[in-house]
Parts: sequence; structure tokens; C-alpha cells
Amino acid sequence: MWTKATIEDLLFGTPDELLFREADRVRQEVCGDEVHLRGILEFSNHCWKNCLYCGLRRDNRSLQRYRMLPEEIVALAAKAAGDGMRTIVLQSGEDPWYTKDRVTAIIRGIKKKAGCALTLSLGERRERELREWKEAGADRYLLKHETANPKLFGSLCPGTTLEKRLGCLRLLKSLGYQVGSGILAGLPGQKPEDFVDDLMLLAFLDVDMVGIGPFIPHPETPLGHDPVGDSRNVLRLIAVARIILREVHIPATTALGTVEREGREKGLRVGANVVMANLTPLRFRKRYAIYPSRICAQESAEWCPECLKQRITNLGRKVSRDYGHSLKGERHAA
Ligand code: 5AD
Ligand code: SF4
Repeated sequence: MWTKATIEDLLFGTPDELLFREADRVRQEVCGDEVHLRGILEFSNHCWKNCLYCGLRRDNRSLQRYRMLPEEIVALAAKAAGDGMRTIVLQSGEDPWYTKDRVTAIIRGIKKKAGCALTLSLGERRERELREWKEAGADRYLLKHETANPKLFGSLCPGTTLEKRLGCLRLLKSLGYQVGSGILAGLPGQKPEDFVDDLMLLAFLDVDMVGIGPFIPHPETPLGHDPVGDSRNVLRLIAVARIILREVHIPATTALGTVEREGREKGLRVGANVVMANLTPLRFRKRYAIYPSRICAQESAEWCPECLKQRITNLGRKVSRDYGHSLKGERHAA
């Protein structure tokens, strides 16, 4: 078991080269050369929440909002799965238009048409919704805790609390979901000590997936003039997460690829084993503007997976043909 002192030592006292080499060694030992390619469909940019850092926040009136119809979501997900995508991630803002029954119908529709794993990333939802969606066939759920500092979380995420977020994560786990959480790194007011708490929290939650990305200021938010999160810090966090959490899936995030040239490749070299291909139709992609200047806003849904496959191969790694379920033993065997 890792103590606070040993995590601090890794995070603050280990030179980049040594830390990155050890993380890559652990990744090789735990995951081998296989990289999981997940297809993400951002089906609605409506959000009733008002997180200060996010371009989809309710008060951003300059954003043209869109919603995809359930039939279109099912058709696109099934097409991607038919083309070989083993996991489909359905993501949106917190959008109550997608009621319990609508989401259930989408899950059933995809599961009937395609043999893929299904991940939901729909924010904090009610217990009865999460329960029914699991029963309908959803496999995984992503909900980042963003920051383990309760005061900072509270000031950046009006309408919720860290306690509520953690309650939701525990509930997801108890319902049998494979659960992902993670860190938004470089938020204004976030301190280096907070990252130690973030990592300890992820260990305590015993998550299956960990997403760590840099904060990128969005001009139409209250944090629009704050500095961008440091990509080297993100790479170090990914490395420490791999070393201490070991059996977890870690994506090299699109946000990392946006702030740093070859950022996703760098992530894959320091502990990450997952990349996300964007399946969102081009006509909506620019509008899913959580942060500005997102990479891959122009590429087509057909091209994204191909480009990523090429990048994976160029690193000497292999695209996995496996579902990429939890690495934590038999608990989640499909
Ligand atoms: N920069 C980077 N990531 C962001 N997210 C939200 N806003 C930003 C931003 N400005 C991330 C959060 C959230 C996910 C939907 O997007 O981590 O969990
Ligand atoms: Fe909505 Fe999520 Fe953005 Fe918060 S981070 S405003 S909940 S889309």
C-alpha cells in the first residue's frame, strides 16, 4: 500500500526520466503493448450545470446547442462497432432531455445491434436511472472527481459538492459498473499538495479507469483568462497514477494532445494505454466546445480511428482487439 509520503516522493522528488521510465515499465508489465481504442460519441452539448471551467456551462449563451436523436446515436454507435470499435463511449453535458427511458432505449438499441462494450459519461444522475441503465446493458461509467480539494471543487462546480460526486462514484461501483474517475489538472487555485490527495482518493475509490487532463481556459467562461494547465505536470500525474494504481486503464487524453504537440503519444509513453477516437458527426464536433482549439475538430469520424491506429503503430504498440474491460481481475468478466 502506498503512503502519502511515498506518493509525495514520487510526485515531487523523482526526476522526469526516472519516473517516466518506471511508469512505462509498469504499463508494459500490466497492459503489455496493447492500446485500447475507444470511440466517443458526444451526442448533446446541452448542460444544466454551470461548472466555472467548462465551455458547455449553462451560462455560455454564445454556444449553439445541439442534441442528437436516439435513432441517430444508435445508428452511429452500431456502425462504429461494426467497423471494429470494441468500446463506445456515450458522452454529453448533464442534459435532462435524455430521460431514464430515452437512455435505456439507446443502450438497448446499441446492445441489440452491436457486440461492443458501452461506457456512459452523462454526469451525476439519479440512482434509479443509473440502476436501470446498468440493467439495460451499460458496462462502464466515467465521472471525474476533477479535484479532491472540497473547497475548490465547491467553488468551481456550483450545484454539487465533492461529497455528492464521491457518493455517486461509490453508488456506480455498488451497481456493478466499471468506474472511471480522474483529475482536471492546473485549475486556478489548485495546489501541488492537492494532487497527492487526488491520487490517494483514486486509490481509495479503487477505480478501474483514470482520466487526467490539463485545464484549458475557455474564453466564454469566468476562468477564460487563467493560465493553461502544465502538460509536464499532467504527464507526471499519469506516470505516478500508473505506478501506484497499476491495474487501471489510463487514456492519453485529447486535452493533453491539444496543449502539447504529440501529447497523446507522450502520454502513451509514460503510463497511458487508451486513446479515444472521436465519432461525433463533423457538423456537431466544433460545438462540443468544452475547451477551445480542440484537436481533431476537422477530422471525419471515419478518419479519427485510422489516424490513431497509425499513431499507435508508430510507437511500436498494437491496437487491442479486446473489449478492454477492467484490469482488476474476474470481478468484471463480461
Ligand atoms: N479544460 C479541460 N478539460 C475540461 N473539462 C471541462 N472543462 C475543461 C476545460 N476547460 C473536462 C472535465 C470534465 C470533462 C467533461 O471535461 O474534466 O470531466
Ligand atoms: Fe456540464 Fe460537465 Fe461541463 Fe460541468 S463539466 S458544465 S457538468 S458538461
